[in-house]
Amino acid sequence: MNATDSHDSRTGRLAGKVALITGAGSGIGRAAALLFAAEGAAVGVLDRDGAVAEETTALVVSAGGRALALTADVSKSAQVSAAADALAAKYSCIDILYNNAGVDSRGSVVVAEETDWDRCFDVNVKGTFLMSQAALVHMGQGGSIINQGSVAALVGVMNFAAYCAAKGAVVALTRSMAVDLAGRGVRANVICPGTVYTPLMEPMLRTRGDGDLDLGLERTLVKYPIGRLGHVDDIARVALFLASDEAAFMTGSVVAADGGMTAQ
Ligand SMILES: NC(=O)c1ccc[n+]([C@@H]2O[C@H](COP(=O)([O-])OP(=O)(O)OC[C@H]3O[C@@H](n4cnc5c(N)ncnc54)[C@H](O)[C@@H]3O)[C@@H](O)[C@H]2O)c1
Repeated sequence: MNATDSHDSRTGRLAGKVALITGAGSGIGRAAALLFAAEGAAVGVLDRDGAVAEETTALVVSAGGRALALTADVSKSAQVSAAADALAAKYSCIDILYNNAGVDSRGSVVVAEETDWDRCFDVNVKGTFLMSQAALVHMGQGGSIINQGSVAALVGVMNFAAYCAAKGAVVALTRSMAVDLAGRGVRANVICPGTVYTPLMEPMLRTRGDGDLDLGLERTLVKYPIGRLGHVDDIARVALFLASDEAAFMTGSVVAADGGMTAQ
């Protein structure tokens, strides 16, 4: 199944909403852009890679949705402000922000490199902070922010020290945002996905398989009671729920979407 397969039934759960999704040029972010648009949202498709942002935007538009491609590095404040301003200028406000853009970083605390640590925190943590600040300018009273965590925030994942720490910080930041923003009707929740087969994960799977992708997959699958890895749509649907008014009583929630990985 690919990201476009399952969006044929439109129920308008985000009708009239404007959503900004970061890292929407690939993987989970692209799936979320297609799903949110199919549910009626106008979508800001933000990626640091403008070409893939344009590709996702074209997919949304060809499926009958509304989207604006935005090129920005979420770790650069001037770029995220310009992107949020451009989306609000086109669609008049921002109701939903999905802080999905992220990078991983390999290595245990013994060997992890300082530059990788900095990059991992810049994109995953500072990017979430900067993008939220920029989007909140246009959010007014009411809105939903969904941050992308990881199971790596909840359990130790071997040889991913910086990534575990950064995603842990995203969970803590989400709780802080939930408390600070509740008074103005903005909800903030964090999704902690288990392993989803996307370009981001392939190097990790190869490493786990000592260079062999199939072996890496096999070694990963044993951690998943549900018997399979995640699909991008598994995570996009959780994001859709948190974005929608159906999740009106949820804020500060840490939602694992991990096939039972952290339940054992
Ligand atoms: N794939 C998984 O198994 C998995 C598991 C848990 C959490 N996550 C998290 O989900 C999110 C999306 O992961 P994915 O697997 O879809 O990744 P992906 O690599 O397929 O897509 C990530 C996208 O983010 C963009 N991006 C990276 N850095 C950026 C930056 N500084 N500014 C703007 N855009 C940037 C990339 O260009 C890319 O298009 C990440 O935060 C990741 O940590 C993924």
